[in-house]
Amino acid sequence: MPVMVITGTGTEVGKTVVTAALAATALAAGRSVAVLKAAQTGVRPEEPGDAAEVARLAGAVTTDELARYPEPLAPSTAARRAGRAPVRPHEVAERAAKLATEHDLVLVEGAGGLLVRFDAAGGTLADAAALLAAPVLVVASAGLGTLNVTELTVRELRGRGLDPAGVVIGSWPDGPDLASRCNLLDLPDVTGVPLLGAVPAGAGALAPARFRGSAPHWLAPRLEGSWDAESFRTREAP
Ligand SMILES: Nc1ncnc2c1ncn2[C@@H]1O[C@H](COP(=O)(O)OP(=O)(O)OP(=O)(O)O)[C@@H](O)[C@H]1O
Ligand SMILES: [Mg+2]
Repeated sequence: MPVMVITGTGTEVGKTVVTAALAATALAAGRSVAVLKAAQTGVRPEEPGDAAEVARLAGAVTTDELARYPEPLAPSTAARRAGRAPVRPHEVAERAAKLATEHDLVLVEGAGGLLVRFDAAGGTLADAAALLAAPVLVVASAGLGTLNVTELTVRELRGRGLDPAGVVIGSWPDGPDLASRCNLLDLPDVTGVPLLGAVPAGAGALAPARFRGSAPHWLAPRLEGSWDAESFRTREAP
């Protein structure tokens, strides 16, 4: 599985933090990793973007970005308003495929959720994933409202013939409320895909060395970690 596409149920759900955990876990297993942020918006040229944040947390990864646009908008809109060329799904796929010839694992992070437009023709991360025939990991939030958007995202992946690898909770709260705890059972039930991890809230603020040491414990064996869904549910679910 050299390329994995990381999408989410929306913006700010923890895609970057989960991507960093995936990268740290793969690095700990001795694999080389590249992180491609397909289109970075809302960041000035000299500011660190999501790929740089992954490198800060995870360590020695190759970082790459096809374009960045200053306004915090969907890439298609941000490109149009900046008067610049948009990122096309085939460009994302080609860059990821090239990185895959040089690395053991390539993590492609989208912008926002799955159907956020990259270009005026309606191209999305889902189109790039289809060109790559890559599995797509869905990052979801923990609490109320996540069941609907996570199920919609997984259904859209399936409808396109894509492979939804599973769901990772981007930020698992310290004191989870009833909805979050129930969602541990309901998320795999409504989506039909396994829960493959939960990154604790606050993980993004850990010192990088601690983040790297802990990341494998947040991800399931399918993602090369040691997180056990069953015992997590036993501990946290009502
Ligand atoms: N587990 C976590 N621990 C600490 N902070 C987190 C965690 N998950 C998310 N955050 C914080 O929440 C914010 C959004 O997270 P993140 O950048 O990973 O989201 P995203 O889904 O990648 O958003 P975007 O669509 O902008 O790429 C960030 O400020 C991040 O530091
Ligand atoms: Mg991000």
